[in-house]
Amino acid sequence: NPNPDFAARLVGWQRRHGRHNLPWQVSDPYAVWLSEIMLQQTQVQTVLDYYPRFLARFPSVADLAAAPQDDVLALWAGLGYYSRARNLHKAAQQVVGEFGGHFPQTRQELERLCGVGRSTAAAISAFAFLQREAILDGNVKRVLCRVYALDGNPQDKKFEQQLWQLAENLLPSENRDMPAYTQGLMDLGATVCKRSKPLCGECPMADICEAKRQARIDELPRRKTA
Ligand code: ADE
Repeated sequence: NPNPDFAARLVGWQRRHGRHNLPWQVSDPYAVWLSEIMLQQTQVQTVLDYYPRFLARFPSVADLAAAPQDDVLALWAGLGYYSRARNLHKAAQQVVGEFGGHFPQTRQELERLCGVGRSTAAAISAFAFLQREAILDGNVKRVLCRVYALDGNPQDKKFEQQLWQLAENLLPSENRDMPAYTQGLMDLGATVCKRSKPLCGECPMADICEAKRQARIDELPRRKTA
């Protein structure tokens, strides 16, 4: 384990300073999945506006699967990236048709759903099923590249693979810590370890952050080159 402290620090920070009143912090995998798809390309503030209406109209995965696609798209109007809504609808039909109406619980099975990639599958399995699965989105990559001063090229497949390996090695040992840990990583990357003007004074990793120690915060992670 690269740092046995990383998970404990993050979980402690999330419990004290993280967000706890988000409407998708629930155990229903359908509700968690819906939120993760909406949050893929849309800000939390905007999703807060759409999410309750969507859930009220489609309270279960079966309701969503049975709806006409136009009804789904109508409720999505304004969120953008409409392929997400079409995939959502298809995925709901997959849950009904391929999984007997029971939401899949493992990352591997979740990845079979339309529109669900590895990181989204990991988030759903961690939040709803307490599975020890690593997430790795843009915010998480930034946190890892800074704390461990990794200066690989983010477009390099091998480097990406190394980041996944690191993300797995850092997971908490206890399943019960997975929701706080996963939410903590997302919140830290979004609100503290920002691309520009990071708030290192509020960061639980500040004293172990290698980029900070080397005064390389501004140059990590490396920018993508065209
Ligand atoms: N972005 C992606 N998933 C999120 C979540 N569960 N909470 C806040 N922001 C997110």
